[in-house]
Order: sequence, then C-alpha cells, then structure tokens
Amino acid sequence: MQDGKHIVVAIDGPAASGKSSVARELARRLGFVYVNSGAIYRAVAWNILQNEIDPRDQGAIERHVSGLQIRCDVRDHESLTLIGGVDPSDHLRDDAVNKNVSIISSLSRVREILVEKMRGYARDYDLVMEGRDIGSVVFPETRFKFYIEASPEIRSRRRAAEGQSDEIAIRDRADSSRSTSPLVIVEDAEVIDTSNLTIVQVVDEIVRRLKAKGLQIGSRP
Ligand code: C5P
Repeated sequence: MQDGKHIVVAIDGPAASGKSSVARELARRLGFVYVNSGAIYRAVAWNILQNEIDPRDQGAIERHVSGLQIRCDVRDHESLTLIGGVDPSDHLRDDAVNKNVSIISSLSRVREILVEKMRGYARDYDLVMEGRDIGSVVFPETRFKFYIEASPEIRSRRRAAEGQSDEIAIRDRADSSRSTSPLVIVEDAEVIDTSNLTIVQVVDEIVRRLKAKGLQIGSRP
C-alpha cells in the first residue's frame, strides 16, 4: 500500500506474449497478489459452454451471466475464480474455451460484471494484474502500466511448446478489433518486447522501471 491506497501494476498484451509468467514472477518479487484476468473470462466461458449456451447467442449469455454466482478469491497469493462454487481451473485451457472465450468476452454486459469483480481485488490487496484492458479500462488511474509484446512467430511457438491448440492470431484480431475495451497500447504504458528476453530479464526490467517511477520495493513485510 502507498498513500493509503493499494498499488496496482497493470500488464497488458496479446495472447502468448509472456504476460502470465512475467506477472506471476513479478508479483512474487513484489509480495503482491497475482491476478490473471484472462482466467476470469475463461472461467465464465467454460461455464457458458458447460450449460450448452450458444456462444453467439448474446441475449442468452447476458441473461445467464447476470444470474451467475461468480466469486473472485485469492489462494496462495493468486486469483482463483469459483463459479457457482465450482473451481474450473482444470478446464481453463480446454480447446473449446480457447476457441470461444474471445466472442464471449467481447460482450459489454459480461465485461461490466467482471471488471467490477477485478476492481474488488484492489480493495484488499496490492496487485499485479494481467490482461487486455487493465491499464486502459480496469485501472486507468494506476501509474504502473506495462504492455508486453512478442513477435507473432515467437508467440505461436510458445503456445505450441505448451502443447496447446490455440489460434492466437484469431483471438488477437477479435480482442483488438472489438468495440468494447479492445486491446490497445495506452499512451502512458511502458512497452517491452519479450521476443529475445527470458522471464527473469523481463521482470528485472519491469522492477527497474517501477523503481525509477518511485515504487518502493521490498519495504513492506
Ligand atoms: O490472457 P488470456 O489469453 O488467457 O485471455 C483469454 C481471453 O480472455 C482473451 O483472448 C480475451 O478475449 C479475454 N480477455 C479480455 N480482457 C482481459 C483478459 C482477457 O477480454 N482483461
């Protein structure tokens, strides 16, 4: 906490840019809670598919999500989403979720509900939160914004190495072109290209820039 307020480090970027690994390690170094906002959208997408709702049926999705019990918790210093009391963690990278998460997360009612949940984390914790619109929409007031990118070839290779079938180019296009909260590089974000850097190198660089911005690191218990 600084000036009586919890601190948010926002990390945005396209799929497979290295955001999750970097954000998790950065949170560990800072002693902050790590929030993977993509996992929250994925949890909701999984629930919609489980309930056999057509991912293109906007009205049905909006009605369903409005009545859904979504609990955003913290376990072991990381975010955990429970939907109707169920932990969907094992299904968040299912092919069907990869394929449908972008269309579901493009709906403004879905975003409205989930953004509120995400903001709730900052009432209790200092955060490193990663996603697509963290610096632009969820926490536009934070001074600590990073945009992590890597070349499309490297990003595809990273996903393939994880053994995942994930059409990242299609998701990127959908996430960048949607009308509500598209992926953008905000003016006050620090851009880091991770193509030729290790996770530790990226985290070192972010820590260096956070210190330069006046964030006191290592002074909290
Ligand atoms: O980060 P990850 O690739 O797991 O995110 C999955 C999907 O969730 C993204 O492709 C995007 O459609 C959606 N998302 C979003 N806004 C965020 C985080 C993720 O729309 N802040």
